[in-house]
Amino acid sequence: MTVFRGTFLDTPHSPFAGGLLRCETDGGVRVVDGAIVERGGFEAVHSRYPDDDVVDLRGGLVLPGLVDTHVHFPQVRMIGALGMPLLDWLERSALPEEARLCDELYAGEVAREFVGGMVAVGTTTALVFGAHFASAVDALFTEAARVGVRVTSGLVVSDRILRADLLTSPESAYDEGLLLAKRWHGVDRSRYAVIPRFSLSCSEAMLDSCAALLGDVEGALFTSHINENLAEVATVCDLFDGCDDYLSTYQQHGLVGPRSVYAHNVHATPAELEILSAEGASVAHCPTSNAALGSGLFPLREHLDHGVRVALGSDVGAGTGFSLFKEGLQAYFMQQLLGARGLPLTSAHLLHLATAAGASTLGLADHVGDFEVGKQFDALWLRPADGSTLHVGLQHANGPDEALAKTFALASSVDVASVWVGGAQVSAAYPRPAVPAR
Ligand code: GUN
Ligand code: ZN
Repeated sequence: MTVFRGTFLDTPHSPFAGGLLRCETDGGVRVVDGAIVERGGFEAVHSRYPDDDVVDLRGGLVLPGLVDTHVHFPQVRMIGALGMPLLDWLERSALPEEARLCDELYAGEVAREFVGGMVAVGTTTALVFGAHFASAVDALFTEAARVGVRVTSGLVVSDRILRADLLTSPESAYDEGLLLAKRWHGVDRSRYAVIPRFSLSCSEAMLDSCAALLGDVEGALFTSHINENLAEVATVCDLFDGCDDYLSTYQQHGLVGPRSVYAHNVHATPAELEILSAEGASVAHCPTSNAALGSGLFPLREHLDHGVRVALGSDVGAGTGFSLFKEGLQAYFMQQLLGARGLPLTSAHLLHLATAAGASTLGLADHVGDFEVGKQFDALWLRPADGSTLHVGLQHANGPDEALAKTFALASSVDVASVWVGGAQVSAAYPRPAVPAR
């Protein structure tokens, strides 16, 4: 039994529906077997349970563990390949690196870099685009289980257009996916996701095979890319006979539902937004990726007006890093740049997009995303170094909303002092190396 002491911020009621940022200054959150059983002012909670261990997180902020709804495991090493639009970037940078993950040793190293990168910025839950090789997907799940983070992932499949070493057949995609799902789905905190790379690289038979696997693995998620780049959208429409729009290429195969998470959707049509909403599907908004690849400005207002659920994704490696603080800030910038079409975002909106909204899109809203009693204690302690610009900003913030805005503006991995999943300190899995003396 542990009582965590600190200043807790969360958004249990969506700020997009009138909810406010909740702040418990010098709060106490009591955790038993990984779950929050009681919360309130620290003195009140502590006086009821004087024998509990106390973890003192005063100085800084305690936030719910961040939820990344779109991130690519094989792309850690090629983050920062700038200057190309999507299809060139895939061919010249991303896919050559993805091909290297056929080597199990290489994939194991990248898996440690990937999960370490997530944890370093306070991401505790992620929907992860896996690799094109089953052995590499095993390496990712193995590392996620060792560390204890919540990862939903799977084999990425394609059967056309990409380089030959990344292609498979619909039959192998189903068989290998089922074997992986049997090994990992529902084991500890891992779950399986069915992942065609995008309909551009998948035949109708491949999309049917994905639908069959999704039907056969109860509770599995589905994820893919959609409407990211105008040249991509045009190619998809050329490839599918009678294609009305990008979403219909998935919908015709039964791949649009409450457990579907589509990344990007920058160039969505009203008809597509209506279908996403009616089917309860979600969209992962990946703002640094959209900016870096020049994909476009995300129509957040239109998504929300249609009732489509939206959360944040880092989209590493087109995105410029694992930090959802950076994604939140870039989401804010994009809405500013849209002028009257944009949706002005507050810091509470940004926290919601990076936590509870993500939990909802991944079907985990009952378990994580905020500090309500009954939820798992997934948290990060933001404790900037004394004298750092963020430390100065937090000390001079005029209330929690402003402190949170400064966090989104300034925080990075160096400010994330500790991270917990289900009450266990997962950041301990990656001791930070000492900086070598000069
Ligand atoms: N579309 C298909 N594959 C990818 C990818 O790896 N990254 C992004 N951003 N878009 C994609
Ligand atoms: Zn992506």
